[in-house]
Amino acid sequence: MVVYLTGFMGCGKSSVGRRLARALGYAFADTDHLVEETAGKGIAAIFAEDGEAAFRRIEREVLQRTADMNRTVVATGGGMPCGEGNVEFMNAHGAVFYLKSSVGRLVGNLLAGDRSRRPKIAGLGNEELCEYVRTTLAAREERYAKAAFTVECDGRSDYGIVAEIAACVAERQGGGAERVVTRPMREEEVPLLAEFLYDAIWQEDGAQALPRSVIRHPEIWAYIDGFGTAEGDVCVVAEVSGVIVGAAWARRMHGYGFVADDMPELAVSVRRQWRGRGIGTRLVRELLMTLRDGGCKGVSLSVDRHNPAVEMYRRLGFGVVREDDSGYVMTLML
Ligand code: S3P
Repeated sequence: MVVYLTGFMGCGKSSVGRRLARALGYAFADTDHLVEETAGKGIAAIFAEDGEAAFRRIEREVLQRTADMNRTVVATGGGMPCGEGNVEFMNAHGAVFYLKSSVGRLVGNLLAGDRSRRPKIAGLGNEELCEYVRTTLAAREERYAKAAFTVECDGRSDYGIVAEIAACVAERQGGGAERVVTRPMREEEVPLLAEFLYDAIWQEDGAQALPRSVIRHPEIWAYIDGFGTAEGDVCVVAEVSGVIVGAAWARRMHGYGFVADDMPELAVSVRRQWRGRGIGTRLVRELLMTLRDGGCKGVSLSVDRHNPAVEMYRRLGFGVVREDDSGYVMTLML
């Protein structure tokens, strides 16, 4: 499969693309580099000597060549989706992910980078740059939105963005629940917990999504703050073809589901597109076994009353010990 990354200059297509390729075991290609190779000169020189129309022609040719690449992540130039038929071509030949960013994030990244490489913004002062990004993004948004997938990038690390796209690609490749492996989380994977923490917050379908910054609220962040360093922190993950699609973790803390000092609180989260396949149940079972083996006597959790996971917890033997306006606190003795 070819995975195309699209989005405005400065949204992180190249850095996310390189990491994503590594995570998936894919090759990496960048259409700007392919254009430069084809023309035998840099982008700034193409714009200056041959004009933007010539650049767009080569860009389109290069795009057509990418269709023959297999198992490759292709980062595309920011203007690629605006060429006639280009997004449609990408959607037909691979999975297209639009890395959606706010004007503020884009400008911040562009100011931190080397502007001389980018002829569209090379001569602009800071204020002009903001204005250029604001108006051009508004004009292009409709083209970007034609990508099959949109990934919200604001407030997220490359690591989180890569994890979301990788999970989606693994699912498109037809990974089934039978190929899911559960295992302890590795130390280098701990940053992923921020992603899973956000997904663990119950949100009503169709409601306005909570901002990702909600996880930084101290009472929420406490579920993962310095995870792995406190005694009793335990986390298991579900992996499909090398991609982590779910996590269940437990920690001794005074959170929303606190019952007793010696009963850790449990949290579980499965990537949206991997839900409904029994992965959450497998993760919780695995976590409970690990806790029991470690001498733990019981666990507790808090869950929104509308969250279908309530049923899963009941099936696993959890019972309600406390109830308030928003939900239940449930426990299970091991
Ligand atoms: C362009 C974006 C650039 C490059 C060219 C034009 C654009 O790619 O293709 O300078 O029109 O937005 P990056 O998005 O990789 O900077």
